Amino acid sequence: MNELYLNGAFVAPEQARISVMDRGFLFGDGVYEVIPAYAGRPLREREHLQRLDNSLKGIGLAPPLSPPEWSLIFQRLLSSTPKADQALYLQVTRGVAPNRDHRFPSQPVPTVLAMTKPMKPRDLAVAERGVEAVTRDDIRWLRCDIKATALLAAVLLRQSAEEAGAEEAILVRDGLALEGSTSNLFIVREGRLVTPPKGPLLLAGITRDLVLELADVAGIPHVERNIEIQELRRADEVWISSSTREVMPVTRLDGALVGSGQPGPLWQRIDRCYQDFKADLRRAAA
Ligand code: PDD
Repeated sequence: MNELYLNGAFVAPEQARISVMDRGFLFGDGVYEVIPAYAGRPLREREHLQRLDNSLKGIGLAPPLSPPEWSLIFQRLLSSTPKADQALYLQVTRGVAPNRDHRFPSQPVPTVLAMTKPMKPRDLAVAERGVEAVTRDDIRWLRCDIKATALLAAVLLRQSAEEAGAEEAILVRDGLALEGSTSNLFIVREGRLVTPPKGPLLLAGITRDLVLELADVAGIPHVERNIEIQELRRADEVWISSSTREVMPVTRLDGALVGSGQPGPLWQRIDRCYQDFKADLRRAAA
């Protein structure tokens, strides 16, 4: 397996050691990022690192590394399989403290981890048929804008979708559909793309922003506003987006067909734009 980066050193995964007193382990006291990389080129690296900084600020932890320092780590991790598509995973925790005490240590030394995992090639069956989603009450906390490693609620929600035979759980709070358990949400209504606005109740997805930019360039009308659950159910198209899943068409929701039950025309357009964007990134690497 590829080496990983832990606290300043590149080591084989089986050599990597973290203390049981690490607050990431004891409290889930940390934040993370997932950055897709195509042929060794991270997609939207600057934006991901900016979001990491926002998450760190959200939990009162100073950035342990600068963007150029992160970049060097990414280059080394990605260089072992330069042609492959991989996801970079980074995690920063509040480090090891002598006692299990909820209060912050006065001088935390963060634990910093970065590693890669292979990204699955695009599943053509998904493009042809779409995926199923279910709706679930959003049982997460009120700071979903922080990409926190404390993911128990998301884990339970995603598992609940899995057990219902669905790819994703779309989360509903106070009658509003906000995002998926591991993805952002888009709907299409009367030719217009709609996604909920950024705020503390959802993660500001990097793929989400890219989709809005691509929609702009393609001349697809779009708006950021709340989506009521009834509107979700009447949508012509529903999509989910994330760094590792790109943009996926949801064609069944809680067992009912979305629109025609096929991936819709606007999804076809945005997917083409997204694939072109990736191809440009790969070409720049060649
Ligand atoms: N999750 N919303 C939530 C709750 C997420 O966990 C994610 C991504 C997104 C999409 O964000 P982005 O487009 O920046 O990947 C939205 C990652 C992939 C994960 O936890 O593995």
